[in-house]
Amino acid sequence: MSQRPALRFPSDFVWGAATAAYQIEGAVAEDGRRPSVWDRYSHTEGKVANGDNGDIACDHYHRVEADVQLMADLGLQTYRFSIAWPRVIPDGRTRANQAGLAWYHRLIDLLLEHGITPCPTLFHWDLPEGLEEIGGFRNRDTVSWFADYAALMAQEFGDRVTMWSTFNEPWCYAYLGHGSGAHAPGLRDPKAAVTVAHHQLLAHGLAVQAMRSERDGLALGIVINPSNIVSEGVEADEAEIRMIDGIHNRWWFDATLTGAYPADVIERYGELADAVQPGDVETIAQPLDWMGINYYFDILVQQAADRGLHMPEYPAVVGTEPSPMRAVHTDMGWPITPAGFTELLVRLRDDYPNLPPIYITENGAAYDDPVVDGRCHDERRIDYLDLHLRALLDAIEEGVDVRGYYQWSLLDNFEWALGYDKRFGIVHVDFDTLERTPRDSALWYRDVIARGGLPEHSD
Ligand code: FCB
Repeated sequence: MSQRPALRFPSDFVWGAATAAYQIEGAVAEDGRRPSVWDRYSHTEGKVANGDNGDIACDHYHRVEADVQLMADLGLQTYRFSIAWPRVIPDGRTRANQAGLAWYHRLIDLLLEHGITPCPTLFHWDLPEGLEEIGGFRNRDTVSWFADYAALMAQEFGDRVTMWSTFNEPWCYAYLGHGSGAHAPGLRDPKAAVTVAHHQLLAHGLAVQAMRSERDGLALGIVINPSNIVSEGVEADEAEIRMIDGIHNRWWFDATLTGAYPADVIERYGELADAVQPGDVETIAQPLDWMGINYYFDILVQQAADRGLHMPEYPAVVGTEPSPMRAVHTDMGWPITPAGFTELLVRLRDDYPNLPPIYITENGAAYDDPVVDGRCHDERRIDYLDLHLRALLDAIEEGVDVRGYYQWSLLDNFEWALGYDKRFGIVHVDFDTLERTPRDSALWYRDVIARGGLPEHSD
């Protein structure tokens, strides 16, 4: 048995939890909301585990008051959520929907009344289906419709909401949505994937400009999900590992922070990257007030038996495949790699001298521990969070400027293509009754927030 000491975080460090609209809201056809690509995808047979969809999800739309009270009871200082574009501009481009706006006004008011700082994301993958019908993010026009949407949000909520992010994990929307097809809109088309990777960033840059011209004083960022790409002793082609790193990591940080796409990726992509036009990357590289990092695990890869394309989410990477999961992993099959968290943050700081202050905008683990007599003992989640917060503190001690941490997720929710089986919540949701039960991890997290640090821990 080993002992981990009690540890304190900087006193101005902020603590929160995160969710996303389609994963929790439900009420998909209410008050003028129109479908998103995820409504369409989840209602297409065979796409989502158990045929699950977000029609009801956590019914957060109707339970927002009680849910904000729950956040307050846990002592959350900030809450990261996403705005559903199809709720506020149902077809994505023509008309604002007052009822949809009113709902987010209410959420924001409730948060502020409880002293919780709102941190909305504009795009967490639920593109209005009306836009998808005319090419979605493959269509360059969507870039300016996104900027219009961003400007409207700044106008509407910017008097009370300072901290915003434009996109959540644009790698996922581009490459899982259009490369492997594992996410909505479900295409398997490498050129579409690269086009969407570029157009999201261009939309990010234009949105930052549009929001700043709407209002002063906003703190604007983007949320990326970088990972270390590691072969861990197994045979792997270093050049291909570097290419995966380029597509997964450098593409996003180079473009937003250095104003250039990584030359090796652009070269390897060739005509797959035709959507990139002169001047685009300058638009993308707007100064940022902060960056969000979502970290769950290191990506483990190994050499494949042949030089084919084995990972459609990395178009142009050959002869490389995921390596089998480790013995210790979460319900997602994701390995537990806290040292990689520290390493990644230190690397970003070293590689990007103009890296803005960092917020960890997601980190957490799926474990399906049952509720028995009103309690849920989720020791494994507590252990995962404890390990990752210690790793985060190591990065802070090495000088990485990290200002806050959002646990993923407040509630069990619709885990995209994996449906309701994968439970990330510190609060358990019974999807028959919709009852919420804070797990032991929620109570543990409440204490972490209250004391601004970690208790002693023994394994
Ligand atoms: C991230 C997503 C988030 C959630 C977690 C588990 O990739 O941003 O919505 O699904 O993974």
